[in-house]
Amino acid sequence: MPNGPLHVKGNLEVISGTGRTVARMTEAWLCRCGQSGNKPFCDGTHKKVGFRSDQ
Ligand code: FES
Repeated sequence: MPNGPLHVKGNLEVISGTGRTVARMTEAWLCRCGQSGNKPFCDGTHKKVGFRSDQ
């Protein structure tokens, strides 16, 4: 999404660096700004910090 998270749809499994499954879902908004308090998911903080993307 412009100036916001990565919106993904489909069968999705989020796995930690140690191999533990964090979540399974069919739709998610993943943080791109690096400031979310709920990584890897977007929590809206990108708006507060004025995150800008070229894509
Ligand atoms: S993209 Fe939304 S909190 Fe980072």
